[in-house]
Amino acid sequence: MSKSISGFSKLSKSKKIDWIVNTYFSNSEAAKRILKQYWNTDEKIQQLHDEFIENTISNYYLPLGVAPNFSINGKLYTIPMVIEESSVVAAASKAAKFWLDRGGFKTTVVSTTKIGQVHFMFHGDPNKLQTFFKQVKPKLIGDTKAITKNMESRGGGIIDIVLRNKTQEIPGYYQLHASFETLDAMGANFINSCLEQFAETFKREALLFDSFSEDEKNIQIVMSILSNYVPECLVRAEVSCKVEDLQEGKVSGEAFAQKFVQAVNIAEIEPYRAVTHNKGIMNGIDAVVLATGNDFRAIEACVHAYASRKGRYASLTHAKIENGIFTFWIEIPLALGTVGGLTGLHPLVKLALELLHHPSAKELMQVVAVAGLAQNFAALRSLTTTGIQQGHMKMHLMNILNQFEASEDEKLNLTKHFENHTVSHSAVVEALKVLRANK
Ligand code: MEV
Repeated sequence: MSKSISGFSKLSKSKKIDWIVNTYFSNSEAAKRILKQYWNTDEKIQQLHDEFIENTISNYYLPLGVAPNFSINGKLYTIPMVIEESSVVAAASKAAKFWLDRGGFKTTVVSTTKIGQVHFMFHGDPNKLQTFFKQVKPKLIGDTKAITKNMESRGGGIIDIVLRNKTQEIPGYYQLHASFETLDAMGANFINSCLEQFAETFKREALLFDSFSEDEKNIQIVMSILSNYVPECLVRAEVSCKVEDLQEGKVSGEAFAQKFVQAVNIAEIEPYRAVTHNKGIMNGIDAVVLATGNDFRAIEACVHAYASRKGRYASLTHAKIENGIFTFWIEIPLALGTVGGLTGLHPLVKLALELLHHPSAKELMQVVAVAGLAQNFAALRSLTTTGIQQGHMKMHLMNILNQFEASEDEKLNLTKHFENHTVSHSAVVEALKVLRANK
Protein backbone atom coordinates (compact mmCIF):
# COMPACT_ATOMS: atom_id res chain seq x y z
CA MET A 1 0.00 0.00 0.00
CA SER A 2 1.39 3.41 -0.92
CA LYS A 3 1.87 6.05 1.72
CA SER A 4 2.52 9.76 1.74
CA ILE A 5 5.86 11.26 2.69
CA SER A 6 6.91 14.73 3.79
CA GLY A 7 10.33 16.26 3.18
CA PHE A 8 10.94 13.93 0.21
CA SER A 9 12.74 16.59 -1.85
CA LYS A 10 15.24 17.07 0.99
CA LEU A 11 16.31 13.43 1.03
CA SER A 12 19.52 12.41 -0.75
CA LYS A 13 19.13 10.76 -4.14
CA SER A 14 19.87 7.31 -2.75
CA LYS A 15 17.40 7.78 0.12
CA LYS A 16 14.74 8.87 -2.36
CA ILE A 17 15.36 5.74 -4.38
CA ASP A 18 15.24 3.58 -1.25
CA TRP A 19 11.87 5.04 -0.33
CA ILE A 20 10.49 4.62 -3.87
CA VAL A 21 11.63 1.03 -4.36
CA ASN A 22 10.59 -0.09 -0.89
CA THR A 23 7.19 1.59 -1.16
CA TYR A 24 6.15 0.64 -4.68
CA PHE A 25 8.07 -2.40 -5.91
CA SER A 26 7.74 -6.07 -5.09
CA ASN A 27 11.34 -6.64 -6.16
CA SER A 28 13.04 -3.54 -4.77
CA GLU A 29 16.55 -4.68 -5.71
CA ALA A 30 15.57 -5.22 -9.36
CA ALA A 31 13.86 -1.80 -9.50
CA LYS A 32 16.94 -0.16 -8.01
CA ARG A 33 19.18 -1.94 -10.52
CA ILE A 34 17.11 -0.65 -13.48
CA LEU A 35 17.16 2.91 -12.18
CA LYS A 36 20.91 2.78 -11.72
CA GLN A 37 21.52 1.13 -15.09
CA TYR A 38 20.52 4.42 -16.68
CA TRP A 39 22.80 6.62 -14.61
CA ASN A 40 25.64 8.14 -16.56
CA THR A 41 29.05 6.78 -15.66
CA ASP A 42 30.44 10.31 -15.95
CA GLU A 43 29.50 11.82 -12.59
CA LYS A 44 29.55 15.36 -13.91
CA ILE A 45 27.06 14.56 -16.65
CA GLN A 46 24.88 12.73 -14.17
CA GLN A 47 24.96 15.66 -11.79
CA LEU A 48 23.96 17.98 -14.64
CA HIS A 49 20.90 15.83 -15.33
CA ASP A 50 20.12 15.47 -11.64
CA GLU A 51 19.98 19.24 -11.38
CA PHE A 52 17.72 19.89 -14.39
CA ILE A 53 14.69 19.05 -12.26
CA GLU A 54 13.78 18.17 -8.70
CA ASN A 55 13.77 14.60 -7.35
CA THR A 56 15.73 13.05 -10.23
CA ILE A 57 16.17 9.33 -9.69
CA SER A 58 17.42 8.26 -13.10
CA ASN A 59 17.61 9.30 -16.76
CA TYR A 60 14.97 8.44 -19.33
CA TYR A 61 16.58 7.69 -22.67
CA LEU A 62 15.05 8.43 -26.04
CA PRO A 63 16.93 7.73 -29.27
CA LEU A 64 18.68 10.62 -30.97
CA GLY A 65 18.60 9.94 -34.71
CA VAL A 66 19.63 12.01 -37.71
CA ALA A 67 17.98 12.61 -41.07
CA PRO A 68 20.52 13.70 -43.71
CA ASN A 69 20.14 15.31 -47.15
CA PHE A 70 17.84 18.21 -46.30
CA SER A 71 18.42 21.04 -48.75
CA ILE A 72 17.01 24.22 -47.21
CA ASN A 73 17.40 27.40 -49.27
CA GLY A 74 20.26 25.69 -51.05
CA LYS A 75 22.17 24.74 -47.85
CA LEU A 76 22.52 21.10 -46.83
CA TYR A 77 21.47 20.00 -43.37
CA THR A 78 21.50 16.79 -41.40
CA ILE A 79 18.65 17.18 -38.95
CA PRO A 80 18.87 15.74 -35.41
CA MET A 81 15.67 14.13 -34.14
CA VAL A 82 14.79 12.78 -30.71
CA ILE A 83 11.84 10.43 -30.98
CA GLU A 84 10.67 6.98 -29.95
CA GLU A 85 8.36 6.26 -32.92
CA SER A 86 10.17 3.84 -35.19
CA SER A 87 9.24 5.21 -38.63
CA VAL A 88 9.74 8.95 -38.10
CA VAL A 89 13.45 9.38 -38.86
CA ALA A 90 13.29 7.00 -41.82
CA ALA A 91 10.32 8.93 -43.23
CA ALA A 92 12.11 12.27 -42.79
CA SER A 93 15.21 10.95 -44.53
CA LYS A 94 13.15 9.62 -47.44
CA ALA A 95 11.32 12.92 -47.89
CA ALA A 96 14.61 14.84 -47.70
CA LYS A 97 16.11 12.69 -50.46
CA PHE A 98 12.98 12.97 -52.58
CA TRP A 99 13.06 16.79 -52.49
CA LEU A 100 16.85 17.01 -52.75
CA ASP A 101 16.44 15.91 -56.36
CA ARG A 102 13.58 18.35 -56.94
CA GLY A 103 14.97 21.70 -55.79
CA GLY A 104 14.87 21.23 -52.02
CA PHE A 105 12.93 23.18 -49.39
CA LYS A 106 12.46 26.95 -49.51
CA THR A 107 11.75 28.79 -46.28
CA THR A 108 11.07 32.31 -45.02
CA VAL A 109 10.54 33.68 -41.54
CA VAL A 110 7.48 35.93 -41.63
CA SER A 111 7.99 37.48 -38.17
CA THR A 112 9.43 36.62 -34.76
CA THR A 113 7.18 38.71 -32.53
CA LYS A 114 6.35 37.18 -29.14
CA ILE A 115 3.60 38.11 -26.73
CA GLY A 116 3.15 38.61 -22.99
CA GLN A 117 0.27 39.94 -20.93
CA VAL A 118 -0.43 41.55 -17.58
CA HIS A 119 -4.00 40.58 -16.66
CA PHE A 120 -5.65 43.01 -14.28
CA MET A 121 -8.99 44.15 -12.88
CA PHE A 122 -10.15 47.78 -12.92
CA HIS A 123 -13.69 48.70 -11.92
CA GLY A 124 -14.00 52.30 -13.07
CA ASP A 125 -14.10 54.71 -15.99
CA PRO A 126 -12.43 53.09 -19.06
CA ASN A 127 -11.63 56.51 -20.54
CA LYS A 128 -9.67 57.48 -17.44
CA LEU A 129 -7.85 54.16 -17.60
CA GLN A 130 -6.93 54.85 -21.24
CA THR A 131 -5.60 58.31 -20.32
CA PHE A 132 -3.63 56.82 -17.44
CA PHE A 133 -2.21 54.12 -19.69
CA LYS A 134 -1.03 56.67 -22.29
CA GLN A 135 0.65 58.67 -19.55
CA VAL A 136 2.28 55.71 -17.83
CA LYS A 137 3.42 53.81 -20.94
CA PRO A 138 6.86 55.50 -21.22
CA LYS A 139 7.39 54.74 -17.52
CA LEU A 140 6.46 51.08 -18.03
CA ILE A 141 9.15 50.84 -20.68
CA GLY A 142 11.61 53.03 -18.75
CA ASP A 143 11.36 50.97 -15.57
CA THR A 144 12.41 47.80 -17.42
CA LYS A 145 15.68 49.32 -18.69
CA ALA A 146 17.82 47.15 -16.42
CA ILE A 147 16.13 44.05 -17.87
CA THR A 148 16.06 45.16 -21.50
CA LYS A 149 19.49 46.82 -21.81
CA ASN A 150 21.37 43.78 -23.14
CA MET A 151 18.55 42.63 -25.39
CA GLU A 152 18.26 46.13 -26.84
CA SER A 153 21.99 46.38 -27.50
CA ARG A 154 21.59 43.28 -29.69
CA GLY A 155 18.56 44.71 -31.54
CA GLY A 156 15.68 43.21 -29.56
CA GLY A 157 13.48 44.32 -26.68
CA ILE A 158 9.94 45.53 -26.11
CA ILE A 159 8.13 46.28 -29.37
CA ASP A 160 4.93 47.74 -27.99
CA ILE A 161 2.41 47.65 -25.16
CA VAL A 162 -1.30 48.16 -25.73
CA LEU A 163 -4.19 48.37 -23.29
CA ARG A 164 -6.92 45.88 -24.08
CA ASN A 165 -10.42 46.19 -22.74
CA LYS A 166 -11.88 42.70 -22.13
CA THR A 167 -14.80 43.83 -19.99
CA GLN A 168 -17.32 42.41 -22.48
CA GLU A 169 -16.10 38.93 -21.53
CA ILE A 170 -15.34 39.46 -17.83
CA PRO A 171 -16.53 42.61 -15.99
CA GLY A 172 -13.55 44.73 -14.98
CA TYR A 173 -11.00 42.65 -16.90
CA TYR A 174 -8.24 44.45 -18.84
CA GLN A 175 -4.81 43.51 -20.16
CA LEU A 176 -1.51 45.12 -20.87
CA HIS A 177 -0.79 43.23 -24.06
CA ALA A 178 2.90 43.50 -24.89
CA SER A 179 4.90 42.38 -27.89
CA PHE A 180 8.59 41.51 -27.78
CA GLU A 181 11.54 40.68 -29.99
CA THR A 182 13.78 38.23 -28.17
CA LEU A 183 16.23 37.41 -31.01
CA ASP A 184 17.94 34.05 -30.48
CA ALA A 185 16.42 33.45 -27.04
CA MET A 186 13.07 31.74 -26.61
CA GLY A 187 12.70 34.65 -24.22
CA ALA A 188 10.41 33.31 -21.51
CA ASN A 189 12.49 34.70 -18.64
CA PHE A 190 13.05 38.02 -20.39
CA ILE A 191 9.36 38.47 -21.18
CA ASN A 192 8.15 37.40 -17.73
CA SER A 193 10.62 39.71 -15.99
CA CYS A 194 9.47 42.66 -18.14
CA LEU A 195 5.81 41.83 -17.46
CA GLU A 196 6.29 41.62 -13.70
CA GLN A 197 7.99 45.01 -13.81
CA PHE A 198 5.13 46.45 -15.91
CA ALA A 199 2.66 45.20 -13.32
CA GLU A 200 4.59 46.73 -10.44
CA THR A 201 4.97 50.10 -12.16
CA PHE A 202 1.35 50.11 -13.33
CA LYS A 203 -0.03 49.43 -9.86
CA ARG A 204 2.32 51.91 -8.20
CA GLU A 205 1.61 54.73 -10.66
CA ALA A 206 -2.16 54.20 -10.49
CA LEU A 207 -2.03 55.13 -6.81
CA LEU A 208 -0.54 58.50 -7.82
CA PHE A 209 -2.91 59.26 -10.72
CA ASP A 210 -5.01 62.23 -9.61
CA SER A 211 -7.96 61.66 -11.96
CA PHE A 212 -8.65 58.23 -10.48
CA SER A 213 -11.10 57.91 -7.60
CA GLU A 214 -9.84 56.07 -4.51
CA ASP A 215 -11.48 52.86 -5.84
CA GLU A 216 -10.04 53.31 -9.33
CA LYS A 217 -6.54 53.74 -7.91
CA ASN A 218 -6.74 50.24 -6.53
CA ILE A 219 -5.86 48.22 -9.65
CA GLN A 220 -5.80 44.49 -8.99
CA ILE A 221 -3.07 42.62 -10.84
CA VAL A 222 -4.24 39.03 -11.47
CA MET A 223 -1.10 37.71 -13.15
CA SER A 224 1.76 38.56 -15.46
CA ILE A 225 2.88 35.89 -17.90
CA LEU A 226 4.09 35.37 -21.44
CA SER A 227 1.68 33.82 -23.91
CA ASN A 228 2.73 30.64 -25.65
CA TYR A 229 0.30 31.62 -28.38
CA VAL A 230 2.53 33.46 -30.85
CA PRO A 231 0.59 33.56 -34.12
CA GLU A 232 2.97 36.21 -35.44
CA CYS A 233 6.15 34.26 -34.71
CA LEU A 234 5.64 32.62 -38.04
CA VAL A 235 7.72 30.62 -40.50
CA ARG A 236 6.83 29.29 -43.93
CA ALA A 237 8.41 26.26 -45.61
CA GLU A 238 7.61 25.08 -49.08
CA VAL A 239 8.45 22.52 -51.74
CA SER A 240 7.40 22.70 -55.35
CA CYS A 241 8.13 20.99 -58.63
CA LYS A 242 6.59 20.23 -62.00
CA VAL A 243 3.73 17.76 -61.56
CA GLU A 244 5.38 15.36 -64.00
CA ASP A 245 8.50 15.26 -61.78
CA LEU A 246 6.43 13.54 -59.10
CA GLN A 247 6.18 10.40 -61.22
CA GLU A 248 7.27 7.33 -59.31
CA GLY A 249 7.05 3.77 -60.53
CA LYS A 250 3.70 3.13 -62.14
CA VAL A 251 1.93 6.14 -60.61
CA SER A 252 1.94 9.19 -62.89
CA GLY A 253 2.93 12.57 -61.46
CA GLU A 254 -0.54 13.91 -62.24
CA ALA A 255 -2.33 11.06 -60.41
CA PHE A 256 0.01 11.33 -57.42
CA ALA A 257 -0.34 15.12 -57.15
CA GLN A 258 -4.11 15.05 -57.43
CA LYS A 259 -4.56 12.43 -54.74
CA PHE A 260 -2.06 14.20 -52.52
CA VAL A 261 -3.89 17.51 -52.83
CA GLN A 262 -7.17 15.73 -52.08
CA ALA A 263 -5.66 14.30 -48.93
CA VAL A 264 -4.53 17.76 -47.80
CA ASN A 265 -7.92 19.27 -48.68
CA ILE A 266 -9.64 16.67 -46.51
CA ALA A 267 -7.46 17.72 -43.57
CA GLU A 268 -8.39 21.36 -44.31
CA ILE A 269 -12.09 20.72 -43.70
CA GLU A 270 -12.36 17.58 -41.53
CA PRO A 271 -11.13 17.94 -37.93
CA TYR A 272 -10.99 14.15 -37.33
CA ARG A 273 -8.50 13.88 -40.15
CA ALA A 274 -6.80 17.22 -39.40
CA VAL A 275 -5.77 16.10 -35.91
CA THR A 276 -4.02 12.99 -37.23
CA HIS A 277 -2.58 14.91 -40.16
CA ASN A 278 -1.14 17.53 -37.78
CA LYS A 279 0.01 14.83 -35.37
CA GLY A 280 2.16 13.50 -38.20
CA ILE A 281 3.58 17.00 -38.73
CA MET A 282 4.35 17.23 -35.01
CA ASN A 283 6.24 13.91 -35.23
CA GLY A 284 8.86 15.83 -37.18
CA ILE A 285 8.57 19.11 -35.34
CA ASP A 286 8.68 17.78 -31.77
CA ALA A 287 11.63 15.53 -32.61
CA VAL A 288 13.80 18.49 -33.68
CA VAL A 289 12.45 20.74 -30.94
CA LEU A 290 13.46 18.13 -28.35
CA ALA A 291 16.86 17.47 -29.92
CA THR A 292 17.63 21.19 -29.82
CA GLY A 293 16.58 21.60 -26.18
CA ASN A 294 13.45 23.62 -26.84
CA ASP A 295 10.10 23.45 -25.06
CA PHE A 296 7.92 21.06 -27.06
CA ARG A 297 4.88 21.62 -24.80
CA ALA A 298 4.91 25.33 -25.65
CA ILE A 299 5.25 24.53 -29.34
CA GLU A 300 2.44 21.95 -29.22
CA ALA A 301 0.06 24.25 -27.32
CA CYS A 302 0.66 27.08 -29.76
CA VAL A 303 0.52 25.06 -32.94
CA HIS A 304 -2.85 23.49 -32.15
CA ALA A 305 -4.36 26.83 -31.13
CA TYR A 306 -3.08 28.22 -34.42
CA ALA A 307 -4.61 25.31 -36.31
CA SER A 308 -7.98 26.33 -34.82
CA ARG A 309 -7.62 30.07 -35.39
CA LYS A 310 -10.41 30.23 -37.98
CA GLY A 311 -12.91 28.60 -35.63
CA ARG A 312 -12.39 25.04 -36.84
CA TYR A 313 -9.36 22.81 -36.27
CA ALA A 314 -7.66 22.44 -39.66
CA SER A 315 -4.54 21.30 -41.47
CA LEU A 316 -1.28 23.16 -40.88
CA THR A 317 -0.11 22.29 -44.39
CA HIS A 318 -1.60 23.26 -47.73
CA ALA A 319 -1.17 22.00 -51.28
CA LYS A 320 -2.13 23.08 -54.78
CA ILE A 321 -1.54 22.34 -58.44
CA GLU A 322 -1.33 25.45 -60.60
CA ASN A 323 -0.11 25.70 -64.18
CA GLY A 324 1.42 22.24 -63.98
CA ILE A 325 3.32 23.04 -60.76
CA PHE A 326 2.72 21.13 -57.53
CA THR A 327 3.27 23.25 -54.40
CA PHE A 328 3.10 21.98 -50.84
CA TRP A 329 3.69 24.30 -47.89
CA ILE A 330 3.35 24.88 -44.19
CA GLU A 331 2.96 28.11 -42.27
CA ILE A 332 3.46 27.58 -38.60
CA PRO A 333 4.17 29.60 -35.46
CA LEU A 334 7.35 28.46 -33.70
CA ALA A 335 8.85 30.28 -30.71
CA LEU A 336 12.32 28.75 -30.51
CA GLY A 337 15.63 29.61 -28.93
CA THR A 338 19.22 28.74 -29.73
CA VAL A 339 20.68 30.47 -26.67
CA GLY A 340 19.70 30.14 -23.02
CA GLY A 341 17.80 27.31 -21.35
CA LEU A 342 19.08 23.81 -22.13
CA THR A 343 20.95 24.99 -25.23
CA GLY A 344 24.08 25.88 -23.30
CA LEU A 345 23.79 23.07 -20.77
CA HIS A 346 22.90 19.71 -22.27
CA PRO A 347 25.89 18.22 -24.12
CA LEU A 348 23.67 16.51 -26.69
CA VAL A 349 21.72 19.70 -27.33
CA LYS A 350 24.99 21.54 -27.91
CA LEU A 351 25.99 18.77 -30.30
CA ALA A 352 22.65 18.96 -32.14
CA LEU A 353 23.05 22.72 -32.58
CA GLU A 354 26.56 22.30 -33.90
CA LEU A 355 25.28 19.67 -36.34
CA LEU A 356 22.84 22.35 -37.57
CA HIS A 357 25.72 24.83 -38.16
CA HIS A 358 24.99 26.79 -34.92
CA PRO A 359 21.70 28.23 -36.19
CA SER A 360 20.13 31.51 -35.13
CA ALA A 361 16.59 31.14 -33.74
CA LYS A 362 15.30 32.20 -37.17
CA GLU A 363 17.32 29.50 -38.91
CA LEU A 364 16.13 26.91 -36.41
CA MET A 365 12.52 27.94 -37.04
CA GLN A 366 13.11 27.17 -40.72
CA VAL A 367 14.73 23.79 -40.06
CA VAL A 368 11.92 22.76 -37.70
CA ALA A 369 9.20 23.84 -40.13
CA VAL A 370 10.93 21.82 -42.85
CA ALA A 371 11.04 18.76 -40.58
CA GLY A 372 7.27 19.11 -40.11
CA LEU A 373 6.56 19.56 -43.80
CA ALA A 374 8.83 16.64 -44.75
CA GLN A 375 7.15 14.38 -42.22
CA ASN A 376 3.72 15.28 -43.55
CA PHE A 377 4.88 14.73 -47.11
CA ALA A 378 6.20 11.28 -46.24
CA ALA A 379 3.01 10.32 -44.39
CA LEU A 380 0.67 11.50 -47.16
CA ARG A 381 2.83 9.90 -49.80
CA SER A 382 2.50 6.52 -48.07
CA LEU A 383 -1.15 6.99 -47.18
CA THR A 384 -2.19 7.88 -50.72
CA THR A 385 -0.11 5.15 -52.39
CA THR A 386 0.91 1.98 -50.55
CA GLY A 387 -0.86 2.67 -47.25
CA ILE A 388 0.99 3.37 -44.03
CA GLN A 389 1.25 -0.09 -42.53
CA GLN A 390 3.73 -1.56 -44.97
CA GLY A 391 6.49 0.86 -43.97
CA HIS A 392 5.40 1.15 -40.35
CA MET A 393 5.39 -2.58 -39.71
CA LYS A 394 8.82 -3.00 -41.35
CA MET A 395 10.16 -0.42 -38.89
CA HIS A 396 8.21 -2.00 -36.06
CA LEU A 397 9.77 -5.41 -36.77
CA MET A 398 12.83 -4.62 -34.67
CA ASN A 399 10.65 -3.58 -31.72
CA ILE A 400 8.80 -6.90 -31.85
CA LEU A 401 12.06 -8.83 -32.12
CA ASN A 402 13.51 -6.96 -29.16
CA GLN A 403 10.37 -7.62 -27.17
CA PHE A 404 11.03 -11.36 -27.67
CA GLU A 405 14.75 -10.93 -26.94
CA ALA A 406 15.80 -12.12 -30.39
CA SER A 407 19.54 -12.69 -30.80
CA GLU A 408 21.58 -10.81 -33.42
CA ASP A 409 21.48 -13.92 -35.66
CA GLU A 410 17.72 -14.22 -35.32
CA LYS A 411 17.32 -10.52 -36.13
CA LEU A 412 19.43 -10.85 -39.27
CA ASN A 413 17.57 -13.93 -40.36
CA LEU A 414 14.10 -12.51 -39.79
CA THR A 415 14.87 -9.08 -41.26
CA LYS A 416 15.81 -10.92 -44.43
CA HIS A 417 12.71 -13.11 -44.24
CA PHE A 418 10.39 -10.09 -43.87
CA GLU A 419 11.87 -8.30 -46.87
CA ASN A 420 9.29 -10.18 -48.90
CA HIS A 421 6.73 -11.20 -46.30
CA THR A 422 4.08 -9.02 -44.67
CA VAL A 423 5.02 -7.99 -41.15
CA SER A 424 2.42 -8.41 -38.46
CA HIS A 425 2.88 -9.09 -34.76
CA SER A 426 1.63 -12.67 -35.07
CA ALA A 427 3.66 -13.33 -38.26
CA VAL A 428 6.86 -12.24 -36.48
CA VAL A 429 6.09 -14.32 -33.39
CA GLU A 430 5.35 -17.33 -35.59
CA ALA A 431 8.50 -16.89 -37.70
CA LEU A 432 10.61 -16.58 -34.55
CA LYS A 433 8.99 -19.73 -33.12
CA VAL A 434 9.76 -21.69 -36.30
CA LEU A 435 13.32 -20.39 -36.37
CA ARG A 436 13.91 -21.37 -32.75
CA ALA A 437 12.31 -24.80 -33.22
CA ASN A 438 14.60 -25.54 -36.18
CA LYS A 439 17.75 -24.72 -34.25
C1 MEV B 1 1.67 8.43 -37.22
O1 MEV B 1 2.47 8.74 -36.11
C2 MEV B 1 1.38 9.67 -38.03
C3 MEV B 1 0.40 9.48 -39.19
O2 MEV B 1 -0.82 8.91 -38.73
C4 MEV B 1 0.17 10.84 -39.77
C5 MEV B 1 -0.93 10.91 -40.80
O3 MEV B 1 -1.87 10.11 -40.77
O4 MEV B 1 -0.85 11.84 -41.64
C6 MEV B 1 0.95 8.53 -40.22
